[in-house]
Amino acid sequence: MEIREIGVVGCGLMGSGIAQVCAASGFPTVVVEATQELCDRGLGNIVKRLERAVQKGSLKAPEKTAIEGRLRVTTDQTKLANCDIVIEAIIERIEEKNRLWRALDPILKKDAILASNTSSISITEMMMATSRPQRFIGVHFMNPVPVMELVEVIRTIVTDQEVFDSAIAFVRKLGKQPVRTSDRPGFIVNRILVPYLLDAIRALEEGVGSIEDIDKSMRLGCGHPMGPFVLLDFVGLDTTYYISNVLFEEFKEPRFAAPSLLKRMVIAGWHGKKTGRGFYDYSDPNSPKVMDLLRL
Ligand code: 3HC
Repeated sequence: MEIREIGVVGCGLMGSGIAQVCAASGFPTVVVEATQELCDRGLGNIVKRLERAVQKGSLKAPEKTAIEGRLRVTTDQTKLANCDIVIEAIIERIEEKNRLWRALDPILKKDAILASNTSSISITEMMMATSRPQRFIGVHFMNPVPVMELVEVIRTIVTDQEVFDSAIAFVRKLGKQPVRTSDRPGFIVNRILVPYLLDAIRALEEGVGSIEDIDKSMRLGCGHPMGPFVLLDFVGLDTTYYISNVLFEEFKEPRFAAPSLLKRMVIAGWHGKKTGRGFYDYSDPNSPKVMDLLRL
């Protein structure tokens, strides 16, 4: 099945990145957001990223204009009617996602591929909100979407082989590297990444090392681009906490259980970079300061 036109629902951090990558890869892309304000904000963020690329010389000005020309941002879901694949990237709440899929089901064309960018919600549960579960898959992009090469392509026990293969070919056309995986909590990346991040917090709680030294160890000792605490703040502590709960709920293994420090930080509203505070304080974004979290 050939994919010509793309739909993206949600133009936040992930949705705007996905839409940008689709348009930059030559696909006409319809982006749907809930309000005009969210449309303007999402498109504004894409334009800012493209402007930065032009300033750096990695993108030519006419290419930027062409990419923008391929993007249509709207609040009207019916504009998705001609899309060959629709990628949902809205809030990580099953009720919201299923409400959206129930609304889109009668709008989308019969042979469209229905895809979710969820990081942790069951693809199987979402597919059952539609009349065509066999055409439903997961396509999980990594943050920041324009930079990270990987996309997990997730099948369920009922996904059509043709849908899975088309999605993999589509991901390659976006210039990304697909990996195949099945609908199990965390898929591949978060199943391995989240217990690692939780372990870093446990090591901190046990006094094994400071935030800075644990970060430094994994950066300089293992070649990771970010240490675990910088990465936790980048991914979002709320997101990590949410994913750990989903994993723990399914597997009941202690390695997936959220450390109490993480839980307390989430309750306190310290969700990392996006809220200005997490394991680091971002009051001065150019020079984050380590937080003193274990003080008595
Ligand atoms: N959006 C778009 N582009 C970005 C960006 C962003 N948020 N942040 C950085 N970039 C671009 C820069 O513009 C630059 O582009 P250029 O090469 O064309 O000039 C390039 O990325 C490198 O950026 P910098 O030189 O400023 O910084 P770094 O070299 O430190 O790279 C990084 C930044 C790519 C974010 C790197 O630190 C990294 O790879 N970190 C790890 C990220 C990671 O692990 N992501 C996965 C998280 S898990 C996940 O997403 C799953 C989810 O379900 C939780």
